[in-house]
Amino acid sequence: MSSIHIRLHNPLTPPLNLRRPFRRSSFATACLNVEVEAENSNALRLDSSKLGLAKEVMEAEAKVLVGTYARAPVVLASGKGCKLYDVEGREYLDLSSGIAVNSLGHGDEDWLKAVVEQASTLTHVSNMYYSIPQIELANRLVAASFADRVFFSNSGTEANEAAIKFARKFQRHSNPDAKEPATEFICFSNCFHGRTMGALALTSKEHYRSPFEPVMPGVTFVEYGNIQATKELIQRGKTAAVFVEPIQGEGGIYSATKEFLQFLRSACDDAGALLVFDEVQCGLGRTGYLWAHEAYGVFPDIMTLAKPLAGGLPIGAVLVTERVASAINYGDHGSTFAGSPLVCNAALAVLNKISKPSFLASVSKKGLYFKEILKQKLGGSSHVREIRGFGLIIGIDLDLPATPLVDACRNSGLLVLTAGKGNVVRIVPPLIITEQELDCAAEILSQALPVLDS
Ligand SMILES: Cc1ncc(COP(=O)(O)O)c(C=O)c1O
Repeated sequence: MSSIHIRLHNPLTPPLNLRRPFRRSSFATACLNVEVEAENSNALRLDSSKLGLAKEVMEAEAKVLVGTYARAPVVLASGKGCKLYDVEGREYLDLSSGIAVNSLGHGDEDWLKAVVEQASTLTHVSNMYYSIPQIELANRLVAASFADRVFFSNSGTEANEAAIKFARKFQRHSNPDAKEPATEFICFSNCFHGRTMGALALTSKEHYRSPFEPVMPGVTFVEYGNIQATKELIQRGKTAAVFVEPIQGEGGIYSATKEFLQFLRSACDDAGALLVFDEVQCGLGRTGYLWAHEAYGVFPDIMTLAKPLAGGLPIGAVLVTERVASAINYGDHGSTFAGSPLVCNAALAVLNKISKPSFLASVSKKGLYFKEILKQKLGGSSHVREIRGFGLIIGIDLDLPATPLVDACRNSGLLVLTAGKGNVVRIVPPLIITEQELDCAAEILSQALPVLDS
């Protein structure tokens, strides 16, 4: 048996992120509930017994983990609602939600109850057997969507892997006499579908793919939104499926137009190809609609989901029509962990909350409110080219790299992400965020903006 020990050699060594000034504006201090040592002082009362812990954790990480993540120098220890706390006692307003995962924030009580109750009853069983939460969750997803059936996976990339296999199998099944059934895929500029070999082949960023080539062949990328260019590419007997995000997240918060999605729907129908909507990031209430595609009135053959579905536990789901499902047989695909009673019960608790019309309406309202105050506070900056997105998936497009601004925000107690070619600030807060917290976030962003001039 092995165990990991993080030894505190010198618990009072100043942590790395305290060597750089960790200052908050007085506004941020007030809205983030930071304890101050004296009036008019920005000094933070950190937990002195923990000072140095962050540095030691970071050093330990550098020795034992494969270096796939360029992490921010923050060691998070706990969370409640939209707030996160690091090991040394700093508070952060979390507008990243674990990359669009924690829609109910941290520690939602109904979610916690569902997890604890299910964990103490039955956590995992093999998919060789039936379990009730899995069937209930599938029922709920089917009832709330275009789909007739569901396949569960453990992540977004796995959901897309399944969708790739289902599309290929569908073509084989529907064209039994074809010598070579359609096997190719069309994807778009700035798209992101995951990191495993199939989903990676569908992901546009060259530098994600090139170190691992050859990836799955037969994928063509075309400009997102360009109807004319796409028209020539979707071909009967060649194109198995078109994968598209109705709103691109990682790619920079770009929304499709209704005309573009309508065109894809009819071009796929004409060519016998499947239309796959990847709603891993934009689905499940983030836009103020349960499914982002509802805003467009265009429906796919397959939709992939993941991130927020189980409130932070790993899950993915592939929603399909009966026509697609009828091509899939026993043994065509599977997973040991997917659809366990624990994650499905957690997902039911999430779905119960976010699918309520009043909840979705509040997301739309807060999204409009936030975009408006961001425009007021940041719109005057010569570096801000556009503030876009809808619901609570918002991008601030800058004319230069966003990292200095994201770092300055973090030093002021606000967590936001980058996207696009590194020039977009991506904001995907918990959907339960309050307008007061959004005010606070906008204020920190606006006070941090001058860092872009330095
Ligand atoms: C649209 C989209 N698809 C797929 C994925 C991959 O999901 P995962 O990281 O859970 O594999 C992501 C992750 O960011 C995503 O945004």
